[in-house]
Amino acid sequence: MRVHVALSPSEFADAPVSGRTVLAIDVLRATSAAVAACDAGCALIVPVPDEAAALARRDGGGVLLAGERGGQAIPGFDLGNSPDEFTRERVEGRTVVLTTTNGTAAMMRAAAGAAAALAALTNVSAAARWARGQARDVTLLCAGDNGAFSLEDAVCAGLLVPALGPAELAGGASSAVALGRHYAGCLGRLATDSLWARRLAHQARDADLAACLRQDVSVAVPVFTGTGFAAAGSDPDALAADGRGRRGVGA
Ligand code: MLT
Repeated sequence: MRVHVALSPSEFADAPVSGRTVLAIDVLRATSAAVAACDAGCALIVPVPDEAAALARRDGGGVLLAGERGGQAIPGFDLGNSPDEFTRERVEGRTVVLTTTNGTAAMMRAAAGAAAALAALTNVSAAARWARGQARDVTLLCAGDNGAFSLEDAVCAGLLVPALGPAELAGGASSAVALGRHYAGCLGRLATDSLWARRLAHQARDADLAACLRQDVSVAVPVFTGTGFAAAGSDPDALAADGRGRRGVGA
């Protein structure tokens, strides 16, 4: 198996996705929120590039709009990007249309792979198990921070890579593995070492940091179904049958 890690969006253009299993990673906070949404029974998460694309999906009741800009919830949207907002009461059985600064772009890029899913620290072992089961070369896309490197995404990639099994490493994979080793067992340090974590702390989002900087608290893996990401095992036809989520990702 070959494993390529793109450590930031500036490396996405050179990261192979065609014919591969691709995982998008945005630990703070989009993929962590998506995992929480799946745990809460969300039917489908549809990433879109911006507020206008999200508003175009509003359908008068069924679809929830979620996301952030600069860490703040988007005015008029139903949900922000805090994992704790994605409760069973809010999202069970619902389609969530999500737009975030960095995470949803990585999700949309991942969707071009032969198989795609979302990984976070909270589901890292389950995501690795799912990717191993796909039996293809793997590409990990770190969402980063406004086009630049983001420590917590690289650490997540670095924990995921060894869990995929023996592999030929490419791109930033070796660096990620070194970072993963460094932070294994002390993920809480990312709350102060990560630039974006410090910014979220300034927004009084310590609960989000606590929720996101935990390893393997979920076995949910949001997997691309052709229309959006649903917990592995969800039936995309069943999702379509209730009239939700039939349009392509990001359209
Ligand atoms: C992003 O997509 O940039 C993040 O998820 C930002 C955030 O913490 O909400």
